[in-house]
Amino acid sequence: QLFGQQRANSLGIATDIESQWQPFRQQVEAFLGDYQWQADSLINGQAQSNVRQAVMAPYASQQQVGEVSWAKVEQVATALDAAEQAHPVWQQTPVNQRTQYLRALADKLEQHMPELVALCHREAGKTVHDSIDEIREAVDFLRYYSQQAESIFSQTLEQTGLQGQQQQVRYQGRGLFVCISPWNFPLAIFIGQIAAALVAGNCVLAKPAEQTSLIAARCIELLLETGIPGAVIQLLLGSGAELGPALCSDPRIAGVAFTGSTPTAQSINRLLAKRDSLPVPFIAETGGQNAMIVDSTALPEQVVRDVLRSAFASAGQRCSALRVLFVQQDIAERIISLLQGAMSELSVACPEYLSSDLGPVIDSRAQQKLLQHIEWLQQNAQLIYQLPLDEQCQQGSYVAPCAFEIDSLSQLTEEHFGPILHVIKFHANQIDSVINQINDSGFGLTLGVHSRNESTYRHIEQRARVGNCYINRDQVGAVVGVQPFGGRGLSGTGPKAGGPHYLYRFAQAEVTVIKA
Ligand code: NAD
Ligand code: ALA
Repeated sequence: QLFGQQRANSLGIATDIESQWQPFRQQVEAFLGDYQWQADSLINGQAQSNVRQAVMAPYASQQQVGEVSWAKVEQVATALDAAEQAHPVWQQTPVNQRTQYLRALADKLEQHMPELVALCHREAGKTVHDSIDEIREAVDFLRYYSQQAESIFSQTLEQTGLQGQQQQVRYQGRGLFVCISPWNFPLAIFIGQIAAALVAGNCVLAKPAEQTSLIAARCIELLLETGIPGAVIQLLLGSGAELGPALCSDPRIAGVAFTGSTPTAQSINRLLAKRDSLPVPFIAETGGQNAMIVDSTALPEQVVRDVLRSAFASAGQRCSALRVLFVQQDIAERIISLLQGAMSELSVACPEYLSSDLGPVIDSRAQQKLLQHIEWLQQNAQLIYQLPLDEQCQQGSYVAPCAFEIDSLSQLTEEHFGPILHVIKFHANQIDSVINQINDSGFGLTLGVHSRNESTYRHIEQRARVGNCYINRDQVGAVVGVQPFGGRGLSGTGPKAGGPHYLYRFAQAEVTVIKA
């Protein structure tokens, strides 16, 4: 009965997915209902069974999805020892063999799509559309980094210029890389970081977000099925606050790839700085206070469609999601009235329904934090629209999509990671002050611009300090290999994920000069 509803999806699921959905849904159903997953940390490919705890679905607090056991802090040292021992052999493994395992995993993720879609619904509360996107993005990362690695690591670059000498540059992995990932892209970001580190010749200590341990563990089980040596990928499930410091303060690690909130990145940065050993690369992809600027030349219907997707898709739980819509006074009433109508069409429901536009937020802690902010907005801002929720939503950690008018971006001092849109009106002569507000926030991840005036959007794009600027479209869903993704300032260090420079940060160059 979960998939019975047929209606156009407000966030733009193509209707042909609906016709293909029926046969696929039957395969997904085998993993819904009472199906249970179990996950343990994996050291040297061996499951480390500690005390197990229940994992509950974010959309139904009484529904168990499986059980997970978390690693003990002492096990971090065992994992580091095992990875250290494995590294010399992995480093010498030809790159084509290293990428073979990752390419084989990409095939396996495709073969296991129904199970993984069900797991994304049930553990991460992802809708059908988001679950499919999640798996596709993971596959894209695996194949893109494999292809990149085969060209970077398989050859020696000859540098010409000096007569009578040969100059050769070659790249190799750094050693042990710690990969720490968030729950909002529990498969794609998790395996994207790991794939990059492994293909470059590093051994990996992976610490996924505690909220999505089942997805991470299932992915590593599939990776081990490809025949990859178990010691090159150590999976540590559990609390970031406990395992993270044990990993990041160890002198043996050669780098950290982190995606998550800005405060956590700052705390890892402090840990790394306190080590006695030399600095190591720290790739941090963090939060945003993302804005969209709409001037009076924009097309209102298109703006509203793009605002809807940017602010509310994935229940606003994307680092790229729109948080602050700046709209020019002359067009504001029209946009707001269309937005109210469009928001009232959103369907907030169990993520397993094909018609669900938004599922729950990740857990009750996140829900409470968002509800507190909504309470603050109710007292300090002007309500534009808040969608009433069905009674069914009481069963899980749902948050009603809402929009409020505020006066200034400086009223927002942190990222609010959910379906809450803030709207600020501005006058035609205030574009530069809008850009300054955005830059002054310190964050710099995504920016949307809607304008039919090229000199306006070029002016904004050149002055705003953001990593990814999207003009006359929505601002989420960067495509791996095509739209490299990552922020500036408080939003990240780069290099951009899914881009041509990412793998180099996991590697070091060696130069050999031979005199004839
Ligand atoms: P988070 O910072 O709470 O946790 C991220 C990871 O860090 C988790 O694995 C967690 O266990 C671990 N961690 C927590 N404390 C730690 C510590 N002291 N030392 C080491 N590791 C620790 O973030 P989250 O709630 O999982 O994810 C949401 C955040 O991620 C949002 O801020 C979002 O904007 C950001 N994000 C950024 C990008 C990007 O590409 N810029 C992509 C996705 C998510
Ligand atoms: N890469 C993701 C997006 O662009 C975070 O939405």
